[in-house]
Amino acid sequence: MPLDLDQKARDILKQNDRGGYTVPTARLYPYQWNWDSAFVALGFATFDRERAWQELELLLEGQWRDGMVPHIIFRRDDPDYFPGPSVWQAHGGDLPSGGISQPPVLASVMLDLVASGNDADRTRAAALFDKVLDWHRWWHSARTPDGCPVVCTVHPWETGRDNCPDWDLGFDRMEVPADLEPYTRMDTVHADVSERPSKLQYDKYVTIIKFGRDVGWDQTRLTNEGPFLMADPGIHFILLRADRDLRHLADILDRPGAADELDGFIAKGVSGTDYLWNPDLKAFCAREVRSGAFSQGFSSASALPFYADAGSPDQRDSTLGHLDRIGAKVDFLVPSWDPDAPGFEPQRYWCGPVWPQMNTIISKGLAEQGHTDLAKRVRGDLAAAIEKSGFFECFNTVTGAGCIGTDFSWTAALWLAWASPNRKT
Ligand code: GLC
Repeated sequence: MPLDLDQKARDILKQNDRGGYTVPTARLYPYQWNWDSAFVALGFATFDRERAWQELELLLEGQWRDGMVPHIIFRRDDPDYFPGPSVWQAHGGDLPSGGISQPPVLASVMLDLVASGNDADRTRAAALFDKVLDWHRWWHSARTPDGCPVVCTVHPWETGRDNCPDWDLGFDRMEVPADLEPYTRMDTVHADVSERPSKLQYDKYVTIIKFGRDVGWDQTRLTNEGPFLMADPGIHFILLRADRDLRHLADILDRPGAADELDGFIAKGVSGTDYLWNPDLKAFCAREVRSGAFSQGFSSASALPFYADAGSPDQRDSTLGHLDRIGAKVDFLVPSWDPDAPGFEPQRYWCGPVWPQMNTIISKGLAEQGHTDLAKRVRGDLAAAIEKSGFFECFNTVTGAGCIGTDFSWTAALWLAWASPNRKT
């Protein structure tokens, strides 16, 4: 059975290949997405290393002149998706794209390919190194608001955890302008409404895009003056890990100047970590920057301090306690939202379901920090959901039923690179 699934996973990646880059799934997401492509490269690397590097190279073709790597690259217009290039009107690079970014897992994926590869992989990584470093600089400057100790986000889509209840705090402060242009959603044409974000949430997503367009996608203004500003433990921990991994690559590639600069970013990340510690819940939580208010639930991003090698021993113990509490309630760890918090829905996108890429990095961090049993459970639960339901976008955390997109690229890729029992990690 797993062998058949390995073959099926390779077939999905080939079928979603659009000529050097991969779409997450046909119809629902018909473009190249940022962190999807990074995870997809790990899957390709198990059978076609050339194709793995190509995925990353094509992603960086979309990089903006200010260093940002956008969350979507629109190589052609596609009526199946809203909001497409004509809505974003974002032209900060050579290709049309979205005007926001996504969690920066790219450096960590490059280090993985280099660590498991040879001279050819080092040469490919060296050619991309400066671009990735520019992107990290962008996070530490354009997305770090004046006076704030951590990187932030201006749009829930930038966190990759689109409609997680974490973002309600930021949305509650927003008004939808009366002159917001009418639009037609396409996601609810391709997927079940009960698994997708609500209409009001969509209005607010579009309101932020309108602001970005109105300031000509000046990213510093979008951060400091925009309608939405939150700090996300997901982006924070993923960037800290990526800074560490890029620092490691700087050593391998003999780039001492870059290593010093990255040491500075790492020190900033380590010292900023406490900003995300919610003393009431005793967990790392999303935070609304202008009010200082914390989100009051444990999300899958709250489980990432191990991956970043961050947080004090007490903070890590408390994080493990939350995972124990939640693990006793759901059959499939790690839910995207806390089953004990308001807003939990086991089948609705980022309000409960288990996501393959989150389980991968959470489990990797737990294993590295010696929490072997829990790491195994997180990996085994994802494998069991895939074996039960197939290569879905995400899975109902209570039943393991597949949700939303089918034949999904990162699910296939991470099965091959990590979750398949044929894989010895
Ligand atoms: C959704 C997910 C996001 C992902 C994208 C493409 O928007 O929330 O994380 O990158 O789909 O798969």
